[in-house]
Amino acid sequence: MTINLKNRSILTVADLTTEEVKYLLNLSQDLKKAKKSGKETSEYKKSNKNIAVIMQKTSTRTRSAFEVAAMNLGIGTTYISGSDSQMGIKESMEDTAKVMGRFYDGIAFRGFKHQDVEILAKNAGVPVWNALTDKWHPTQMFADYLTVLENFKTTKVKFVFFGDAKNNMGNSLVVMSAHMGAHFVGCAPKTYWPSDEVIKKANEIAKKTGAKIEFTEDPMIASKDADVLYTDIWVSMGEPDEVWKKRIHDLKPYQINKKLMNNAKKTAIFMHCLPSYHDLNTDIAKEISKKFGLKEFEVTDEVFRSNQSKVFDEAENRMHTIKAIIAATI
Ligand code: CP
Ligand code: NVA
Repeated sequence: MTINLKNRSILTVADLTTEEVKYLLNLSQDLKKAKKSGKETSEYKKSNKNIAVIMQKTSTRTRSAFEVAAMNLGIGTTYISGSDSQMGIKESMEDTAKVMGRFYDGIAFRGFKHQDVEILAKNAGVPVWNALTDKWHPTQMFADYLTVLENFKTTKVKFVFFGDAKNNMGNSLVVMSAHMGAHFVGCAPKTYWPSDEVIKKANEIAKKTGAKIEFTEDPMIASKDADVLYTDIWVSMGEPDEVWKKRIHDLKPYQINKKLMNNAKKTAIFMHCLPSYHDLNTDIAKEISKKFGLKEFEVTDEVFRSNQSKVFDEAENRMHTIKAIIAATI
């Protein structure tokens, strides 16, 4: 089957078919190989194209990935932070989209409400890539499963997500794991599981791919014989500081530590989208530590720095996979 993603926006992996997801992963592998061997061919180069990277929330990886990937493809970029534009403040998302679509051939957008990226995509007339909203983080998914593929030569692994599973990362990983035919286990208190709507979508996909989707509150059951142990920060961008106290109380039992890693397969890897609070070398971790006494949060420093940790390979893969998304859609 020929896959054509030209002019398509990527707002969530739930909107893509499994074949489209696999196509983007294959293209990511090709582009990574080409970059590593110094043979990036003109096949993927785009001439006279420009993209905008608009971010209402901060970013290290996603912004850099879009900018470097675009540059490698011969595409110009403009970075616009939330405070630099009129968007949503003096000008509606709809009008902004219509203006940006006249200037740019693609728009990456990181924001709060998922509805905002939908309005952009509906009105821009060019592909819009969701660079993270409160609900979804689709571009991260390709980097994550490329990392799984590189480590296990298959995506049909036991993939366990610990912690805040109802957020952008939990939502995205359960659906992506369904596409990938994986055995996904979300491990968190019930109130942190994704919505019924998200789980239903994942199960619909799983029926076709043979994936298995499960949730449990028990970290020892979840980590047993796991291939991938994954977590995300306990308090996401845009959430108020007041939630830290309850999050620490609720999610501390789901911290990824040596005991959980040892309960998994010997070959298991640790993954995290980053940024991570695994030590006290950040202002926020220091401040929270002062208030609540913890020295490490969603993952212990020992696991984060261990040989099983693949977080920096995963971070690098953000660039190769975002390059595939840009190359395929514009
Ligand atoms: N993982 C991720 O999206 O990182 P940034 O917030 O630095 O972009
Ligand atoms: N859940 C995190 C993901 C960061 C990449 C956040 O939204 O802050």
